[in-house]
Amino acid sequence: MRNRRVSLAAIAGAASLALTLSACGQSGDGGSKDEGSDSAKGGTIGIAMPTKSSERWISDGANVVKDLEAKGYKTKLVYGEDDPDQQVSQIENLITQGVKALIVAAIDNKSLNNVLQQAADAKIPVISYDRLILGTKNVDYYASFDNSKVGELQANYIVDKLGLKSGKGPFNIELFAGSNDDNNTKYFFNGAMSVLQPYIDSKKLVVQSGQTGLTQVTTLRWDGATAQKRMDDILTKSYGSKKVDAVLSPYDGISIGILSALKSDDYGSASKPLPVLTGQDAELASVKSIIAGGQTQTVYKDLRELAKVATTMVDDVLNDKKPETNDTKTYDNGTKVVPAYLLQPVSVDKTNYEKVLVEGGYYTADQLK
Ligand code: GAL
Repeated sequence: MRNRRVSLAAIAGAASLALTLSACGQSGDGGSKDEGSDSAKGGTIGIAMPTKSSERWISDGANVVKDLEAKGYKTKLVYGEDDPDQQVSQIENLITQGVKALIVAAIDNKSLNNVLQQAADAKIPVISYDRLILGTKNVDYYASFDNSKVGELQANYIVDKLGLKSGKGPFNIELFAGSNDDNNTKYFFNGAMSVLQPYIDSKKLVVQSGQTGLTQVTTLRWDGATAQKRMDDILTKSYGSKKVDAVLSPYDGISIGILSALKSDDYGSASKPLPVLTGQDAELASVKSIIAGGQTQTVYKDLRELAKVATTMVDDVLNDKKPETNDTKTYDNGTKVVPAYLLQPVSVDKTNYEKVLVEGGYYTADQLK
């Protein structure tokens, strides 16, 4: 199997890795963590994260590094700043530097095929982290959350808050989705729409903008400013004297942008209450906003657990052990079904953030002040 290193190859690889590392020094890609002892038993693992512009990926990088170091590996952590080409060349560099395995959270899920072929040729196993990499057989395992469930939690929250099950309505809703180059986007959106569509069909939920198709509601690179602009336009063009009662947002950074647009349109004042506004990732700014009565809900995904799953997969693969998976059907990347371990997301709002986030040790009470 291409995952398994023959010991001679490993020795040769380790020798050339040592040479490459001493020749190149630090990668200069930012966040390089290869300082420290050369005797780390497991060699170096390359970690490619999408961006530092969102707090969650900074935590992901730090958690993965910490867990790998605890398992005896060295690490090289790079961030692609949401530029797919940059991510490709960063991964190329990691391969040249002789990493033993790669953990990749893709920026553009379809842009990595060539570079992952290079990884396969160098017998470097690849773990797809949080976001599935598409269109290549050269991805070994997928560590993520139940992404459809994320969307269902957001939509069910809206249904409950508006009282739709007890027949209330009609209400106005607007829909936002994530980046169209992220495979998670359609899982979040379809999960949410599986809950919302029946209410849209029965006209208990009305999308005044008329923008209901996934291609109409995506937000390139999950950018909050892009979402803010779209919300501004929708409020101007489709609302007038009408009010929006709920906004499906897939991610906290987008929710913060939407909230700004709403506030500029006087939402949040006594006569114009803020709509129910969902999110994802339990980012600090959003949890604070939830406590202050701005954003309404977020979906918490314990990134500590995700890092544990991904780094255990790496350790298993490099030690000829089959990693534990709990889903071998859902995540077809167009070339193969990638065996996955999916964690469970949790809906968080004002009523349970203390129990889930503070008692769970994700944030301290002080951080949320
Ligand atoms: C997705 C991820 C979400 C959110 C989003 C924007 O791929 O699953 O949790 O972080 O990217 O960064």
